[in-house]
Amino acid sequence: MTVAAAAQEPDGLHVTFGPDGHQAVFTSSWLAGYAVPDVDQRCEDAKRLWSARDFPSGPPVTSWPAYASNDAVRLRCLRDLLSTGFMLLSGVAAKPGAVAEVVASFGYIRETNYGRLFDVRVEATAANLAFTCLPIGPHTDNPYRDPVPTVQLLHCLTNSADGGESGLLDGFRAAAQLRAEDPTAFDRLTSTPVTFGYADATTDLQATRPMIGLNSAGLIREVRYNSRSMRPVRPRSGTSPAEAADQMREFYVAYRTFAAILMRPSLTLRFMLRPGDCVVFDNTRLLHSRTGFSAAGGRHLQGCYADLDAAESTVAVLARSCRRRAS
Ligand code: FE2
Repeated sequence: MTVAAAAQEPDGLHVTFGPDGHQAVFTSSWLAGYAVPDVDQRCEDAKRLWSARDFPSGPPVTSWPAYASNDAVRLRCLRDLLSTGFMLLSGVAAKPGAVAEVVASFGYIRETNYGRLFDVRVEATAANLAFTCLPIGPHTDNPYRDPVPTVQLLHCLTNSADGGESGLLDGFRAAAQLRAEDPTAFDRLTSTPVTFGYADATTDLQATRPMIGLNSAGLIREVRYNSRSMRPVRPRSGTSPAEAADQMREFYVAYRTFAAILMRPSLTLRFMLRPGDCVVFDNTRLLHSRTGFSAAGGRHLQGCYADLDAAESTVAVLARSCRRRAS
């Protein structure tokens, strides 16, 4: 198909297509809707990057009854989820399964080998650090999946333990910090494929991706960081032993530099989850952590995974209906 003729008329652009002479009119308002270049909504340029000092009073909290009953409140919270990477709800019923209602408010549960929902509490024979009372450093979940679950929810059912403070950290901000302070290290982490893996009796998962993922414009789009599931990094094929040694050294120096940035207290937003609190966050961007807690007290979180595309869709639909109501 070719454009045989085009003319701007008062009602829009008139185009005649060849070879059959098919005619179409593209109105000015329709064309205006596509005039602004698309921005990759998942990359750093579409986000509000932050550090802990941007939230001096702690994370903003919205009550679940207000969120669930008011579209404007839900829209605001979900926009926060997309721009800052998280939202924190309080007053969700502190009962098993309630986290599924939170997911249903913006999307769908992403079921994995851990089930539709998973419980984070101390287990006698823990297969995962999450099921102990030990501290857990900043990490993203399930980097051994491709694609990773892009949203994680953690809902607090009980928390009477001493300690067990939660932490959230903006991985895009940390990666941007690395780029500013040590561009060579940033280049290493964006270009070296890293394999993450998880295996148990019924599961064997692996995914290989750079620790910091960029989009085609070179902008930060994804962080995968999990020292527990990261496999040893291997040299590129075809390199000599000397080159391989250099590659490894350079990668691990860069990894250590990034790790040191992630450990800066100024980056991690700390808060205590109380029964009924539910934190929802972007697992492609935010790293989460917790401090250790006393084994004697009870601490039980229930979690699940979901995906950002559904949250983005819900935001678009809610914005549409809020606009319609206002006009
Ligand atoms: Fe985790």
